[in-house]
Amino acid sequence: MVLQTQEPILAAYTSKKVNIQTFGCQMNEYDTDKMMEVLRQENYIYTDDCKEADLIIVNTCSVREKAEQKVYSLLGRLRPLKERNPDLIIGVGGCVAQQEGTRILNRAHSVDLVFGTDNLFDLPGMLEEVHRGNRIVQTERKAHKQKVRNFIPDFAFENTSKPGLKSYIAITKGCNNFCSFCIVPTTRGLEVSRKPENIMEEAVALVAQGAKELCLLGQNVNSYKAGGVDFVELLVRLNEIEGLERIRFTSPHPKDFHEQLAEAIENLEHVCEHLHLPLQAGSDSVLDRMKRNYTLQEYLEKVEMLRRRLPQVAISTDIIVGFPGESDVDFERTVKAVETIRFDQIYAFKYSPRPGTPAVDYDGQLEESVKSDRLNRLLALQEKIVAQKHQQLMGEVLEVLVEGTYPRDIRSRSGRSRGHYPVVILNSDANIGDLVTVRITGTKKYSLEALSLQ
Ligand code: SAH
Ligand code: SF4
Ligand code: F3S
Repeated sequence: MVLQTQEPILAAYTSKKVNIQTFGCQMNEYDTDKMMEVLRQENYIYTDDCKEADLIIVNTCSVREKAEQKVYSLLGRLRPLKERNPDLIIGVGGCVAQQEGTRILNRAHSVDLVFGTDNLFDLPGMLEEVHRGNRIVQTERKAHKQKVRNFIPDFAFENTSKPGLKSYIAITKGCNNFCSFCIVPTTRGLEVSRKPENIMEEAVALVAQGAKELCLLGQNVNSYKAGGVDFVELLVRLNEIEGLERIRFTSPHPKDFHEQLAEAIENLEHVCEHLHLPLQAGSDSVLDRMKRNYTLQEYLEKVEMLRRRLPQVAISTDIIVGFPGESDVDFERTVKAVETIRFDQIYAFKYSPRPGTPAVDYDGQLEESVKSDRLNRLLALQEKIVAQKHQQLMGEVLEVLVEGTYPRDIRSRSGRSRGHYPVVILNSDANIGDLVTVRITGTKKYSLEALSLQ
């Protein structure tokens, strides 16, 4: 079932409009949803069009330099809107806001409000201050995020174009790992696990609103521990929720990936056979300087252990190329690892020096051209592997969660398999939210084609 609701005509006249532009990871998307919950209680409705907004929030990411630059160029583009409409409020939240604070106000004069990753629940009070004519910075850390109680999807929820069929739940925030390249522990703070009761309550509420798939979020989900409940026990409890069809999670850290979790993925009906396990590099000396706390051999053994239990499991990963001091030989080890493991999907990035992280000061910072060449080589290799994987899936029977109508052909439906492969079901009248058993009949570069068996 999809939440099909229509905007009441009256609301359009009495409400204020907010537009939120989200950068970065799913944690930011989740926070954007929370901002909408808070703002809906303040009589805001969502608009896709920033030209008609009374409030624009930019939810920022600083994981790589490019992401941060995008924020400042967007703020530049928003300036004329503010000049035309001085009542427009522009707010900046997320990881750049947490890190930069007042510097954003100094650099971007059209910004009224800067708030950190722990402060989104204070939006009503902060907006009041802005209405009084003040420019605000609020980046104070809080031990726990508050929770919005009893939120019920309303018309504005539908307007965020997220009907909630697939919903996120943060189970931890922050990170204690301090990988030497990574800004996240600075922007999100130390790791805190949410109470299992709160997670369960939110999960049950989301399923009641129509969520069929939940993705548990955390920087290192498998180190979750609260109230005597560990990550595997949390999965066991979530798996019991009536009406919840699929459970995913991102990201587990390889150093904390153990047999019990592999067993849970194998045995818990609703936990999808899909693991995102960031490798980062295939060379032990690079992994060591990245402070990842595992060797390639240990990573390979864990993948083998999982595949022994679940041969059909899909595995995706993150890889950084051009880490300081990465030699040609080191990079060849990454290539070899990718050839050996044959991931279903790779997110590959050029190393980007982040201020305040240890790796910025490491010797052997590499030229942009070296990083680009290595990235291109890795992506070309992965393209070949994916094409072969698609070919191997021909004729297979898979379960697809229907997410929408295929934009290029309204008689078709698009969705994802349990292994997270994008699948187009041809000539289908399935509804959004249906689970359809299909046979794979064709392959495209980025997706699979299928026919319904029902
Ligand atoms: N907590 C997750 C990753 C969060 S950041 C984990 O540990 O797996 C998502 C990805 O961005 C990382 O896995 C890494 O591959 C990449 N990344 C992080 N910092 C980076 C940097 N400074 N330069 C390039 N890529 C980076
Ligand atoms: Fe960053 Fe490492 Fe923590 Fe992931 S585990 S968020 S890469 S410090
Ligand atoms: Fe970016 Fe912050 Fe996520 S830095 S990747 S938005 S945790």
